[in-house]
Amino acid sequence: MKKCLKFQVRSMLKVHLTLGFFVIVYLISLSRWLKDFQTRQLDLYSIDDIQQLLAKLQFLSGPTLGVTGNLTSHADLHFKTSLLKEDCHRAPVTNIVYIRTHKTGSTTLCNIINRYGYLRNLSFMLDENFRNGRNFYMNISLAFQRNTLLRPLRTSVQDGSTRPLYNMTTLHTQYDRNVIAKFMVPNARYITSLRDPATQFESAFAHYKLHHVFGKEKHKLISKPIEDSIAEWLKKPKFYLDKLKRTAKLRDSEEQWLHLYARNGQINDLGFEAKHHGDLKRVSEYIDSLDKEFDLVLITEYFDESLLILKKQFCWEVEDILYISENQRLNEAKTSAISQSLRDSIRKWNSADFQLYQHFNRTLWQKIKKYGPQFKEDLSNFRKRLKDVLHNCTKGQVTTGRKFFRRTVYTKKRNLPDYCIMLVKTKDQIVLKIREKQLGNSINYN
Ligand SMILES: *[C@@H]1O[C@H](CO)[C@@H](O)[C@H](O)[C@H]1NC(C)=O
Ligand SMILES: *[C@@H]1O[C@H](CO)[C@@H](O)[C@H](O)[C@H]1NC(C)=O
Ligand SMILES: *[C@@H]1O[C@H](CO)[C@@H](O)[C@H](O)[C@H]1NC(C)=O
Ligand SMILES: *[C@@H]1O[C@H](CO)[C@@H](O)[C@H](O)[C@H]1NC(C)=O
Ligand SMILES: *[C@@H]1O[C@H](CO)[C@@H](O)[C@H](O)[C@H]1NC(C)=O
Ligand SMILES: *[C@@H]1O[C@H](CO)[C@@H](O)[C@H](O)[C@H]1NC(C)=O
Repeated sequence: MKKCLKFQVRSMLKVHLTLGFFVIVYLISLSRWLKDFQTRQLDLYSIDDIQQLLAKLQFLSGPTLGVTGNLTSHADLHFKTSLLKEDCHRAPVTNIVYIRTHKTGSTTLCNIINRYGYLRNLSFMLDENFRNGRNFYMNISLAFQRNTLLRPLRTSVQDGSTRPLYNMTTLHTQYDRNVIAKFMVPNARYITSLRDPATQFESAFAHYKLHHVFGKEKHKLISKPIEDSIAEWLKKPKFYLDKLKRTAKLRDSEEQWLHLYARNGQINDLGFEAKHHGDLKRVSEYIDSLDKEFDLVLITEYFDESLLILKKQFCWEVEDILYISENQRLNEAKTSAISQSLRDSIRKWNSADFQLYQHFNRTLWQKIKKYGPQFKEDLSNFRKRLKDVLHNCTKGQVTTGRKFFRRTVYTKKRNLPDYCIMLVKTKDQIVLKIREKQLGNSINYN
């Protein structure tokens, strides 16, 4: 009898434990889903539910993202400038294609250009249904064929049969001059940004979790620092790359693109096919053609310097290039632990990217030299302005995320001065506002 009771208690305990387990698993998945919702869902709109999503974003972006007031304020449309005008006698450049390379810190530059275009009512190439490229590329021709490109501002449905012409493009699309040029205002300038492959590869490796390809080795390595995973990859890089390609074929998801970021991801983003990456002569020739076709290549390691060059080349004002970084990984989460020899091996594995990087690092510094002795002072003033922006628009930084995803984000002030309002917006918020404007345009005419 006693034994039977004991048995009953034990089996009831088992049932409860099992139930408890499933409840916990359920709660974890639910919280993951909710977390993903903010980052993922916001990229997937159609005309039908745009209003609904707008309402959701307003709700989501309230206190957590630090945006005060509603999404369309007076100050958004009339960007007040309180600083000296740049002494530039040409008209500013307003038509820009920014080819975004992955994991080069492109979000900040993207925000700068999006903000510039938004405030001046410029039209952006955007797709109404699809995510506008994140891990993968948006196919512009396909979007046009399917009639899913948002119409430029001040155009009507009747113009629908002709090709739309845009002022700006900041989406993740693989560089293909012939296709992009067809959809851009003819005198558009082309820019991109590059980063030393030693750090860009590390960032891509962490972001795309390439260590998953190790399979059963995975659990052994996952708890170790990223440099150990990279060292493991570099022991048999071709083997792991092939494995990544094979597993990619089985998946009908973004993961099928992962292998593109496992070697020479930057030159691939710029349209140079992976099968030619080993051919040094072709790489050189391709770099030469990019040099002719691109008006400016920014270098992540010298971002502020690059922005000053952009400002001068495009006749912009200093307000136009101010920024607050959205997502900065902390230095200790970055490459400090990567030894010089590992650095060299990474550059060797990504040799086409390294060649590309060195070339455009050189051309940037040539431009800086040409800028003249004023450069140093301009840079120091610009950095002072950036500090003021942080001081005036944010309450300071907080650290978030775990391990190699540790990063700083800024908490934003309430009751922001007007000039901060656009500066504190996240990428998703700015893109949403651009969408809203271009969709509003469509709705008016329908
Ligand atoms: C948005 O803000 C403006 C100015 O602050 C205000 O006039 C307007 O009523 C607000 N709109 C909504 C929908 O809250
Ligand atoms: C942009 O468009 C809005 C709405 O039509 C208008 O009020 C504003 O003056 C325009 N801004 C510029 C810089 O053209
Ligand atoms: C993009 O779509 C066009 C039209 O359907 C197709 O011809 C082209 O091959 C596609 N490009 C890529 C890179 O998939
Ligand atoms: C923006 O693009 C349109 C074509 O859609 C063009 O007519 C207009 O001149 C461009 N605006 C600027 C400021 O470059
Ligand atoms: C980039 O150029 C700068 C200035 O010439 C130089 O100090 C730096 O070493 C270069 N970086 C690489 C990785 O070549
Ligand atoms: C920003 O703050 C600084 C002090 O850090 C102040 O001197 C400056 O006037 C402020 N700038 C603007 C545009 O409000």
